[in-house]
Formats: sequence, structure tokens, C-alpha cells
Amino acid sequence: MFIENLTLKNFRNHAARFFSFSENTVVILGGNGSGKTNLLEAVHYLSFGKSFRAPNDDCLDATAADGFYIKGETLTGSIRNRTEASFRRGGGKTLRYDGKAVSGRQLIGRNRSVIFYTDDMNLVQGASVYRRRYLDHLLGQTDPRYLDNLVRYNRSVKQKNSVLRDLKIKKKAQTPEPKPIFCPA
Ligand SMILES: Nc1ncnc2c1ncn2[C@@H]1O[C@H](COP(=O)(O)OP(=O)(O)OP(=O)(O)O)[C@@H](O)[C@H]1O
Ligand SMILES: [Mg+2]
Repeated sequence: MFIENLTLKNFRNHAARFFSFSENTVVILGGNGSGKTNLLEAVHYLSFGKSFRAPNDDCLDATAADGFYIKGETLTGSIRNRTEASFRRGGGKTLRYDGKAVSGRQLIGRNRSVIFYTDDMNLVQGASVYRRRYLDHLLGQTDPRYLDNLVRYNRSVKQKNSVLRDLKIKKKAQTPEPKPIFCPA
């Protein structure tokens, strides 16, 4: 499978662009700040339904725009598939695969990709959480059962932390304030 073309509208610094790629190795050249990483970010978005570096979609639309649109067409043998992502401020995002609305979870695995960027130096230097997350990203794309278990696991951890937080708050509320100690001068 390879990505044949990419259409970007108001995605970061790409107001309206169309890129086509060959099946062979593609090298993207351009000056600093010209939008090379933004282009890769758009490809990643079509794999995972989100950016690899922006905390939320509000960071991704071009300055003064109120949303963005990404479309990618892939070719697997002779089968062509279309993935679209659109985001509107106040209206949220919509992901589509061959015209049908899909969730991020349903999109993962259809357009498999691996990204390596500066923060990934943490894979070597950083805590084990980075290595686990990297493997989760790879395995989640190739094994749907792994992804399901991962989603359930993350949900359980979130619930456990929430219960522990509540218990801590309750315990704090029940513990009487320590009496002030007056020390004679
Ligand atoms: N939301 C946004 N709206 C408009 N422009 C943006 C937005 N976010 C980033 N940019 C612009 O995108 C440019 C950076 O793009 P990108 O990071 O893709 O560059 P690059 O080609 O990878 O550069 P380098 O060679 O330095 O890595 C900057 O000019 C920045 O101002
Ligand atoms: Mg870059």
C-alpha cells in the first residue's frame, strides 16, 4: 500500500495544496519552516485520526481559518481507498473512510504508518513509557485485538486513578486539621 496523493486545505501553513507521490521512496525537500513536517503530520492524521505533536485539533487549522480538511488516496494493488479528515471549530472533527464516517479507533490499522521524529530520541534516552507507547502504536495498527485490549486497559487505569483520587479527597476531608502549635517565645 502507498499514498498516491494528499490534499490539504487550511492545514497549518498549507492553505490549499495537492501533492502526489510515487510508489518508490519519496524524499521531501524544502526550506526551514516551509511545511515538510506539517505534510507528514497530515499523513499521520490519516493513520491515527490525530496529530503526533499537537495536543488538540485547534492548533492545526491555518491562522485565521476555522477548520481544516485533509484527504489522502492510497493504492493497494489495484484498490484505491480514500481517507478524509475534516475539522471545524465548534463542530469537532469527522473522519471518513471511502465516504463512510469512522471513529479514530476504526481508522487505526487501515493506513499503517510509522513516524520517527525529534521527540523519539526519548525512545533511547527517556523513561520506559516512551518505549511502551511506541510499541503500542505499532502493534495497535497490526493487531485489532491488541488495540481493543489497549483501549480497555487505558480505560481501566483511568477509572482506577479516578477512584484513588476520590478516596484521597474523602480521606483528606475526614482528617481533622492539625491544631496549631504555639511555641513560647
Ligand atoms: N496553525 C498554523 N497556521 C499557520 N501556519 C502554521 C501553523 N502551525 C505552524 N505553522 C507554520 O508552519 C511552519 C512550520 O512548518 P514545518 O514544521 O512543517 O516546517 P519544516 O519544513 O518541517 O521546517 P524544518 O526544516 O525547520 O523542520 C512555520 O512557518 C509555522 O509558522
Ligand atoms: Mg520539520
